[in-house]
Amino acid sequence: MGKRWLREKKRDYYYRKAKMENYRSRAAYKLLQLSSKFRFLRRGFRVIELGCAPGGWTQVASRIVGEEGRVVGVDLQRVEWVAENVEVIQGDFTSQEVRLRLRELMPECEVVLSDASPGISGVWSVDHARSIALCEAALEIAEEHLVDGGTLVTKVFQGDMLQEFLGKLRSRFRHVRIAKPGASRKRSAEVYLVALGYRKMAE
Ligand SMILES: C[S@@+](CC[C@H](N)C(=O)[O-])C[C@H]1O[C@@H](n2cnc3c(N)ncnc32)[C@H](O)[C@@H]1O
Repeated sequence: MGKRWLREKKRDYYYRKAKMENYRSRAAYKLLQLSSKFRFLRRGFRVIELGCAPGGWTQVASRIVGEEGRVVGVDLQRVEWVAENVEVIQGDFTSQEVRLRLRELMPECEVVLSDASPGISGVWSVDHARSIALCEAALEIAEEHLVDGGTLVTKVFQGDMLQEFLGKLRSRFRHVRIAKPGASRKRSAEVYLVALGYRKMAE
C-alpha cells in the first residue's frame, strides 16, 4: 500500500474511532449502523458470520447477542480470540468441508451476516461477478440455517447481476432493503442487502 493510502487511512474518522473504541476494524461501524436501523440483532440470538476477519463485526455481534447468544464466524484468515460466545472456523465458506462444520456447530440461527469481499482484480465486471458468487453462497447457507423470520445481511459490489440476485432474495424474504451505511466510503461500490423475514418452507 502507498504512502498516500496510509495517510488517508489515518485521517479517516471511522478508522480513528475504531482505534479509540477498541474495534478491530472500521467496518464494525457499518454493522452497528445497519443493526441500529433494522434491529436484526438481539440478545440471545444465534449468528453465522461469513468473512469475519479481523473480527470487527464479530465484536459487535458478540456484544449485542450477549451471554445467551452465540456467534460462529468463518474466514480464510486466522482470527484472534474474540469472546466466550464466539467460535471461528478458518476456511472457505463456499467449500463442503466448512458447510459441514457449520451444520455441526450451529444447525439453526436467527441471523446470517456476510461482509465477505472477493480478492479484488480491479476489473469491475470480474469483481462484481465474484461478489455475487459470494452472495449466492451466503444465501445458500442462509436457506439451510435460518429459522422462519430470520435475517440475511450481505455485502455486494454493485453491477448488472444485482437485480437478478435481488429477485431471488425477494422470493425468499418478506422485506429486502438496500443500504449504504454512513461508515461505508462513498466512493466504494459496496452496498448492503438486508433481507428480513425469511420464509422457511415446511420440510
Ligand atoms: C472486509 S473483510 C471483513 C471485515 C469484517 N467484517 C470486520 O469487521 O472485521 C472481508 C473478509 O472476507 C473474507 N473472505 C472472502 N471470501 C471468503 C470465503 N470464500 N470464505 C471465507 N472468508 C472469505 C476475507 O478473507 C476477508 O477477511
